[in-house]
Amino acid sequence: MTKHLLLGQTLGFSGNPLLGDWADAVDFDSAGGVLLEGDRIIARGSGAALRANHPEATVTDYGDALISAGFVDAHMHYPQTGIIASWGKQLIDWLNTYTFPEEARFGERAYADDVAGRTLDLALAHGTTTLTSFCTIHPESVDAFFEAAARRNMAVVAGKTCMDRNAPDTLRDTAQSAYDDSKTLLEKWHGVGRASYAITPRFSPTSTPDQLTALGALWAEHPQCLMQTHLSEQLPEIKWVQELFPQARDYLDTYEMFGLLGQNGLYGHAIHLQEREVARLAEVCAAVIHCPTSNTFIGSGLFDLMGLAKSALSIGLATDTGGGSSFSMLRTMAAAYEIGQLRGVALHPAQLMWLATEGSADALKMSGEIGHLGAGAAADITVLDLQSTPAIAQRAMRAQDIWDAVFPTIMMGDDRAVRDVWIAGKRRQT
Ligand code: GUN
Ligand code: ZN
Repeated sequence: MTKHLLLGQTLGFSGNPLLGDWADAVDFDSAGGVLLEGDRIIARGSGAALRANHPEATVTDYGDALISAGFVDAHMHYPQTGIIASWGKQLIDWLNTYTFPEEARFGERAYADDVAGRTLDLALAHGTTTLTSFCTIHPESVDAFFEAAARRNMAVVAGKTCMDRNAPDTLRDTAQSAYDDSKTLLEKWHGVGRASYAITPRFSPTSTPDQLTALGALWAEHPQCLMQTHLSEQLPEIKWVQELFPQARDYLDTYEMFGLLGQNGLYGHAIHLQEREVARLAEVCAAVIHCPTSNTFIGSGLFDLMGLAKSALSIGLATDTGGGSSFSMLRTMAAAYEIGQLRGVALHPAQLMWLATEGSADALKMSGEIGHLGAGAAADITVLDLQSTPAIAQRAMRAQDIWDAVFPTIMMGDDRAVRDVWIAGKRRQT
């Protein structure tokens, strides 16, 4: 099998830089190498040593560009690609005004195919190699996404969004059809190639107790699958949840009561949590997903990243397209930094890069497989030009160390910073 050796500045991680001293978790080499064989990374180390030991490998020398694991977006909505950056609404009005009318179009397979392909290509152009997506209530929208991802050989997570109340007629399923369709899609796609199925109740306001019960039962039958939903994003939403579920102790309880709290659960946003909710999420080893551009764009609030990390929660990072306002995980890291500043915490570039790779992979229970620049991982790799625009270059030229060189790209970079992407050992053709 052909071996490829990528040379450049390499950044990987040996631990979690949110806990303890970030420097202890970092594995950086200013003259590093990553050796690929087939769809895998088989070695990482000194570029010169790898070159000497593997003279048969074809070499791509990226100079002083930064070789990182590909970015992992842990929560997004591919059907909302066409309505990203829609003006003037907060969560519930935004869903009703922009999101639901757009999602209603995905019963038409050709439209779903078009948007799925466009979204994946936009993600790749921004250096994102794995997406975790909500689809729509239409099974066709799930097939469209998984098929488009398979054509690109991308590892993706997705599921049919289930809603049987508080949504337009054209976007409602039932408790039974949500169970049946989700089961059929799960059996069709989970573990096929690089696809993973996630059971996907949108959020408790759009599911009846019957539907939540049915999806809890499905998860109990397939506990190896992820379950993704939304939790405590905006204050009016939380009030609405209290009215709809008066017997629940809090928002998280509306999932727990129906068997929808567990280790493989992904809870998007998780901004306004009660102490009990944090303790329960930690107890069951569930993951919360930070969606910073969305939280500012639709006015949700300031996620307590450090507090939740200290409570031992697994935390992924995500665009939340199209509530989020960017396809770029660089911009998403920048927004996480800005929200940190508003909470009095300066997140280090190492912590931000970890969140966008290893942190999201950990949340998805795919550590070591994706988001990891090390032997044994899938060869999903993003190469960043750290001087991609004149504005970034003039700042990076003054850099005293690698972090000072990376941070301007995190704060100001976009798809122009993405020099190359490798998917499962193959260089992406642009
Ligand atoms: N809560 C329920 N559905 C959605 C959605 O599509 N986007 C966001 N940001 N929050 C939600
Ligand atoms: Zn979302």
